[in-house]
Amino acid sequence: MFNELWYKNAIIYCLSVGTFLDANGDGIGDFPGLMRRLDYLQGLGVTTIWLMPFQPSPGRDNGYDISDYYNVDPKYGTLGDFAEFTHACAERGLRVIIDLVVNHTSDQHPWFQAARSDPASKYRDWYVWSDKKPPHSNDGVVFPGAQKSTWSYDKQAKRWYFHRFYDFQPDLDTANPQVHAELLKIMGFWIQLGVSGFRMDAVPFVIAAKGPKVRRHSEQYGMLRAFREFLQWREGNAIILAEANVLPATDLEYFGDSGERLPMMFNFQLNQHTFYTLATGDTEPLKKALVATKPRPASAQWGVFLRNHDELDLGRLTPQAREAVFAAFAPEPDMQLYGRGIRRRLAPMLSGDRRRLELAYSLMLTLPGTPVIRYGDEIGMGDDLRRPDRESMRTPMQWSGEPQGGFTQHARPPVPVISGGAYGFERINVASQRRDPDSLLNWTERMIRMRREMPEIGWGDFNVLRTSRNDVLAMRYDWRNNSVLCLHNFGPQACTVRFRSGCQGAGDDRLVNLLSDDHSQGNGDGRHTVVLEPYGYRWYRAGGLDYLLRRSEV
Ligand code: NOJ
Ligand code: CA
Repeated sequence: MFNELWYKNAIIYCLSVGTFLDANGDGIGDFPGLMRRLDYLQGLGVTTIWLMPFQPSPGRDNGYDISDYYNVDPKYGTLGDFAEFTHACAERGLRVIIDLVVNHTSDQHPWFQAARSDPASKYRDWYVWSDKKPPHSNDGVVFPGAQKSTWSYDKQAKRWYFHRFYDFQPDLDTANPQVHAELLKIMGFWIQLGVSGFRMDAVPFVIAAKGPKVRRHSEQYGMLRAFREFLQWREGNAIILAEANVLPATDLEYFGDSGERLPMMFNFQLNQHTFYTLATGDTEPLKKALVATKPRPASAQWGVFLRNHDELDLGRLTPQAREAVFAAFAPEPDMQLYGRGIRRRLAPMLSGDRRRLELAYSLMLTLPGTPVIRYGDEIGMGDDLRRPDRESMRTPMQWSGEPQGGFTQHARPPVPVISGGAYGFERINVASQRRDPDSLLNWTERMIRMRREMPEIGWGDFNVLRTSRNDVLAMRYDWRNNSVLCLHNFGPQACTVRFRSGCQGAGDDRLVNLLSDDHSQGNGDGRHTVVLEPYGYRWYRAGGLDYLLRRSEV
């Protein structure tokens, strides 16, 4: 049965239609353009596309302010194009998941327009109102600096409305049964058009109690089960991947003790500690995060990522740890955001150092869960810090060295392609990396291919191994009578690391290197000694390459 859980061994690729490929030359990426790149994505080896919001929107929060849940923003194409797109994906065996942004709507949504202008409207109660300014209206803002409060006065309604995010994103009253029913209808609609699930935006806020009297954040976890059940009545193997930056103590509330709530969540805990370890070489907090996020039901899965379209949020680190990451990866104030995060892409953070990029990706691909890659990271794209806030990391894909990086035929696209310097399209682009067998792109493609043949990582149980060095992380995954082992050296120096593989029944205790020729032989006492390059990494299989012959059925 578990073989059917496709998301356990998926590789997810996150992109936004508007910055991928512009087919009609108006300067904005669109569905017809994206369709022309599906063969590229299939060749890269990713199995699932996560599409960021593409529904009609005033576009004040990169599409996370939706004004019609049942349509495609005309600048990206039509619903017809969308159906063609999901069909073209299915033809290639690619799955599609889309953003589900239902904590709030745009203030331009007809529901909010009706709610604010007509007290008798049925939509009035779809939002969260207060007659008086609530006493805690300055608490709980998500974007400090860019957002002042969580309650704003609406002149038309002559009342205050609640907005967890920006003031143009009024919160839906998700506890209202009518809103709940509508939310399910939205899921059902897109399922019908061929998607395999949803990346659910801002889940802790969707399920939070909302209202002027609410003082402490409290979640109604039961809602999660209702979402899940509806989804799977409609489409048995559809998933929800939750955006929930929560503490490990509540992980099981989101997954459900027996996996009855959300099947996937992004592992923010692991993400933040990964960057701490990349910055300092100290693996201790990363190991703790691995252990803390280990408990999960068998059917549940982590989404493992390095960077996404938001700031790299370091809010869960201690102040000292956060400062260490800032010092290493975002020393200029302009590189930081909201006092807690970094608004840069991965490659510039790692100074474009190929060894460190490989280390980071190798780690992401081998941490427990399903990797989620951000478009452009496979070629090491950079950021544009002249653009405001989080827009710095949302520039068009760089396809070639031709004008506008091959993204559009328009001379001045509204979101400019990065040009000039170390990360400009002239130097960093898909076409030139394709011609170079040693490029990051070709390396990533090979790694993804190998990772797909290591189901032990997505499916198996893992152990963090004890090693002789704090700057080396060693992990072993066990599944169906097979084991794989991964080593990562976070230090800038070559080193010798000793560890015990701890494999059961691994024959002569040989570790077969999957990426190069230097295998490791145990010393008879179960101990291995491996010399690693600066920022070096290893992927091994225990035993030998007859592992498929040895794999057990259950
Ligand atoms: C999380 C999204 O990732 C972010 O981009 C957005 O601004 C907020 N949710 C509000 O929808
Ligand atoms: Ca276009």
